[in-house]
Amino acid sequence: MKRNLILFCLGLVLIFSGCFNDSRTGEDRVFSSIDDLMAKMTLEEKIGQMNLYSSFWSLTGPAPIGGDAKMKYDHLKNGQLGAVLNVHGVEDARKWQEMAVNETRLGIPLLFGYDVIHGHKTLAPIPLAESCSWNLDLMKKSAAMAAREASAMGINWTFAPMVDISRDARWGRVMEGAGEDPFLGSLIAKARVEGFQGDDLSAPHTIAATAKHFAGYGFAESGKDYNTADVGLNTLHNMILPPFKAAAESDVKTFMNSFNTLNGIPATADEFLQRDLLKEKWNYPGFIVSDWGSGAEMIAHGYAKDMDEVAELSANAGSDMDMESYAFVNHLQKAVEDGAVPMEYIDDAVKRILEVKEDLGLFEDPYKYCNEEREKTDVFSAQNRADALAMAKESIVLLKNEKNMLPLDPDKKVALIGALADDDNSPLGNWRLGSDNFTGVTLKEGMESLSTKVDFEKGPDYFSGDAMFHMHINVNEDNKKGLDEAIALARNAEKVVLVMGEHGFQSGEGRSRGNIGLPGFQQEMLSAIYAVNPNIVLVVMSGRPLDLSWADANLPAVLACWQLGTETGNAIAEVLYGKTVPSGKLTMTFPRSVSQVPIYYNYLNTGRPGPKNEVFWSHYSDMSNEPLYPFGFGLSYTSFEYGKAKITNAKGKTTSLSLEVTNTGEFDAKEIVQLYIRDLVARPARPIKELKGFEKIELKAGESKTINFTLDESNLGSFNDNGDWKTEAGDFHIMVGPNSRDLQILEFELE
Ligand code: NOJ
Repeated sequence: MKRNLILFCLGLVLIFSGCFNDSRTGEDRVFSSIDDLMAKMTLEEKIGQMNLYSSFWSLTGPAPIGGDAKMKYDHLKNGQLGAVLNVHGVEDARKWQEMAVNETRLGIPLLFGYDVIHGHKTLAPIPLAESCSWNLDLMKKSAAMAAREASAMGINWTFAPMVDISRDARWGRVMEGAGEDPFLGSLIAKARVEGFQGDDLSAPHTIAATAKHFAGYGFAESGKDYNTADVGLNTLHNMILPPFKAAAESDVKTFMNSFNTLNGIPATADEFLQRDLLKEKWNYPGFIVSDWGSGAEMIAHGYAKDMDEVAELSANAGSDMDMESYAFVNHLQKAVEDGAVPMEYIDDAVKRILEVKEDLGLFEDPYKYCNEEREKTDVFSAQNRADALAMAKESIVLLKNEKNMLPLDPDKKVALIGALADDDNSPLGNWRLGSDNFTGVTLKEGMESLSTKVDFEKGPDYFSGDAMFHMHINVNEDNKKGLDEAIALARNAEKVVLVMGEHGFQSGEGRSRGNIGLPGFQQEMLSAIYAVNPNIVLVVMSGRPLDLSWADANLPAVLACWQLGTETGNAIAEVLYGKTVPSGKLTMTFPRSVSQVPIYYNYLNTGRPGPKNEVFWSHYSDMSNEPLYPFGFGLSYTSFEYGKAKITNAKGKTTSLSLEVTNTGEFDAKEIVQLYIRDLVARPARPIKELKGFEKIELKAGESKTINFTLDESNLGSFNDNGDWKTEAGDFHIMVGPNSRDLQILEFELE
């Protein structure tokens, strides 16, 4: 009812304000509902709504005169464009919207999409880092901050969150996800969707979110981006799909499909995933956008022979909007007219798209997200930076701390070494198209704001290359200029803070790595500094788990600091000086060597899990099976004692468990208490551990808290091959502890 009224009013406003092209009648613009509007649309206009282009020209400049840009421009004016991505700023967004609203026959407003992945102008930590906080409220706030900024700059639709589970540190896009676990990944998906979309999507500071990449993209073979994914139904339903389901249940407005083939079928053409599962079984009402050119890539996949087939296969499979393939706009009409794609599929897709526009309030006010005032006040604001800092501090994971290395005493001298310590760009991380380069707080600045006793030596450059998304980063392999000075500073210092790791553009799309050690000559430099002073705190910046075996074996302290965005330096400095006690825990397993990858905690047991004899069991003969740091691992400056857990009812369909956790150290701190289960006998078999609960608690020094967990059929089961949840009666292990390795085991029988 409300919708009808709004649309009707819009029609009247448009008629009376005369803002449509004067050669057209106003009647076309008067509609009382989406159905009514659709009844007025031609097939060409409907297909236009299913078309998404990247911005091809700044509308504040002269119109394009040739090539694709001219074609796109004509499509825009002709009502053959439903959405646009990569428009920067309100002035441009307003111009685009004016063209769509004033110059097309029906005046349907555009969606403005953008990769708002971890903040927009103000950058929060990369999503993998954020996930290590296990703090759902903070992640929700971080997404809300990103939405506030993006919506103040003309954006109303983000291509986030990426909810792909991945077990492969080589894959560059692990930086964009929430790690390897489907339970935690689902909760984070929900938090992020709720953060972006808020309680009221039509409010000016909230934007539509996208669950991507549907599906299997994170299971790319050998960790190479865009590569084939081949997974069975058990893994698909229990590992890959749960975060997507959680996003759908959180009312995420859109899904994005993916570049990869899944079991031989390009995701964009996957009818089982898109039409049967998402739209029918899950009853999902939003729309599915393709990934960039993923439709056209079906030809390279050897799945479609030409663009006619691309359009037909995509639309029939349930892909509703085509990003940059030109498939729908140029080929779909023919497919419909030939009867190859049913008209009801087109109507279904268009309705879904228009409903998202309506939910955003665009029919009510197409310029809702074009507020020049907000662009000045809501971007890079003190509040946004405070949110980014809070998130950054909780994303840091302390991996090792011996010999009282940390926290540092601000009254004592410390040697700070390494090019990344004075870098205001790389720590911003990848996927930061809306932000400005060189705007991060460096670690040097952060430490100097808390202590006057910091001696800095940059040492050699680690990288060279342009600070551009599409540019290659060159790793410095041999220029050691500055190394002697760095060694000299280290030699005379009591403690050394050495900052090493990856460049922010070494992870992200298209940035898989075959080696996951410290890039270039950094390991050599580390050894050289260690030779003169072993008292090193290694601050590691990276977009993925790295092989830190040497550092772990030799150094007293290691801190995983990822890429923490704008507030990087302030966040790390607070942790180094103990103003903030680290509380992050890993959401991806750290391997001992790249050859252990893919490595993850929730694996299936083999028939030969343990050493019965020296040879014939499932293992490597030249390295341990154990990871370097397990999933869920992270230390604190304080110590926590876990009391003996008690199960309060050991039979039935529900079980509750309680345990006391005490802060036995000297710092007030946060701890993430984790709960895992194992279904001992199940068909198909279940993993040896599955995270099913956690609580992040805050304990003052000396304080104890009792934690209660409840398990029931909603978390003791698994998905069968049809995607239906089922539980099996029988024995379970229930495990609690500070990480996925150090657990106490209790028993429970599910009736
Ligand atoms: C390709 C990426 O895979 C996707 O995640 C992103 O949203 C689009 N490009 C648009 O930039």
